[in-house]
Amino acid sequence: MTETLPVPPVRVLVLNGPNLNLLGKREPEVYGTTSLDELMDELVLYGSAEGAEIRAAQSNSEGAIVDLLHASQEWATGVIINAGAYSHTSIAIRDAISSIDIPVIEVHISNVAAREEFRHQSMLSGVCQGVLFGFGHKGYKLAVQSFLLTS
Ligand code: DQA
Repeated sequence: MTETLPVPPVRVLVLNGPNLNLLGKREPEVYGTTSLDELMDELVLYGSAEGAEIRAAQSNSEGAIVDLLHASQEWATGVIINAGAYSHTSIAIRDAISSIDIPVIEVHISNVAAREEFRHQSMLSGVCQGVLFGFGHKGYKLAVQSFLLTS
């Protein structure tokens, strides 16, 4: 008889940082024409079909992102973060990621390595479980899959 092992829950907080509230309107040639709400609604549906519960939050403020990271471990088993421009500058967000006990995956919609030099460095990558960039909006789904495969 085959034994069915219990599947651990996968609960993911998706955190989007500055200017990502303008997705759909902001530089559509780089970031696409879908709004953040549409993208996150689709991701929540995708997660429930794949077996992951997903919640989404967005803030333009560095301190609020730090607070959301601290609070994330009360509910989430993992975090997906697109910290926007703060990815390249924020030691505070890096330290917040290091301070929590759940894995964090860094996502960027665009291929940051193919863009301006200042986007080539991330303050966050070294303390994240992994990084996905250049896959457009699908990067968020790939990050959800990463959590499902590694849970
Ligand atoms: C971004 C890339 C960052 O360099 C930029 O500041 C953003 C969006 C991306 O998703 O491609 O705001 O994180």
